[in-house]
Amino acid sequence: MAEYIMAQQNGRTIPEEDTIFGVSTRANKRIAEVGKENVINGTIGALLDDDGNLMVLSSVDETFKSLTPVEYAQYAPIGGTPGFRKAVVKAALKEYKPKSQVCAVASPGGTGALRLAFSNYSQIGDQILTSDWHWGPYGKVAGEIGRSVTSFKLFDKDGHFNAADFQAEVNALAAKQETILIVLNTPAQNPTGYSMTDDDWRKAIEIISAVPKDKKIGLVADTAYIDFAGDEDEARSFLPILEDVPENVMPMLAFSLSKTFTLYGLRCGALIGFARTEEIAEEFVRVCEYSARASWSNCPKAGHSIMERIFNDPDLLARVTAERKEIRDMLLERGRAFEEAAAKEGVPMMPFSGGFFAVIPCDNPTELGLKLEEENIFLIPFGEGLRVSLAAIPIDKCRVVPAAVKKALG
Ligand SMILES: Cc1ncc(COP(=O)(O)O)c(C=O)c1O
Repeated sequence: MAEYIMAQQNGRTIPEEDTIFGVSTRANKRIAEVGKENVINGTIGALLDDDGNLMVLSSVDETFKSLTPVEYAQYAPIGGTPGFRKAVVKAALKEYKPKSQVCAVASPGGTGALRLAFSNYSQIGDQILTSDWHWGPYGKVAGEIGRSVTSFKLFDKDGHFNAADFQAEVNALAAKQETILIVLNTPAQNPTGYSMTDDDWRKAIEIISAVPKDKKIGLVADTAYIDFAGDEDEARSFLPILEDVPENVMPMLAFSLSKTFTLYGLRCGALIGFARTEEIAEEFVRVCEYSARASWSNCPKAGHSIMERIFNDPDLLARVTAERKEIRDMLLERGRAFEEAAAKEGVPMMPFSGGFFAVIPCDNPTELGLKLEEENIFLIPFGEGLRVSLAAIPIDKCRVVPAAVKKALG
């Protein structure tokens, strides 16, 4: 029997229930039964305070609430307001002064930015390369537009960036495709919390630079968690390395305002391109604006207006930055507490340096997850491990999860 009644599958595998949604529904049901203080809900991908409430930067919130109707009700230009396009580049690059022509096209969140890159820097039928540990929507965004995702092993046996496997997979794609699109989610990757070092980046760029020059290569750094990885300037130290590529490579950033400005629901982000020439920059804007028009059209103007206000007002920007540091420090402390507890219990972790998530590798993540649910702990089975959202649980709960995992492992 056909899997669909009226709809068309179009090569996609569409599950009846999303894994994350399923676990989080069970977590909420348990919270309703036994109270939130008795449940550890490590499923949510947003920063929550110790009482489980969404953390929002009050400086951003106040800016939002002071917008005039023209600033939020009017259509935004397809590629974003001119002020937003400047502001988002400043937000993404901070003090870094690029040597390329930098161009930005607005998108609904980092997801939309990825979609712009996938549509325009890969061909229909292509495989897009990312790491084996990666955020699930990459495959969905690719599959929706006739591409798919293939992967290299992110870590070698010592837990370092696996340059050899990266090289093997890049070369395998070069042997069969005209275009190669690569997505590296760093710093503070989802799900592991790994940040590529500058040395990892140099190795990756060396490998990419060795590909025959008749191949067109798009290189996207998915920086959704860049402002929750540690010091904001240090987290951007890879930018000059990313830009140091031959002419056949187009470096890009998929930049999201969801976490950086706590504007998850406002759907605001941008694809930022580093173009070697004005022609390439113009082409980037033209093709990305076309894709935007052909999918979501324009983005909510409110996000653009908020960014314009913040970046036109140095005092407001300083407030936003200081507030973000405060919540980032809290998150990083949770990460350290979790790492210490895991080390104490002898529970393994995938290489972690910061951000919203960490992973405990294990053989049967679904089974182990269900066992932990009996103890009122809800984590997401993710590849060959369980993903813990450090962003969503208070520090005292971060300290107890590893012991519970150890017990469940037997
Ligand atoms: C790895 C990664 N990339 C991109 C995104 C994009 O987020 P958004 O579309 O909400 O900005 C997320 C969000 O969870 C993510 O985890």
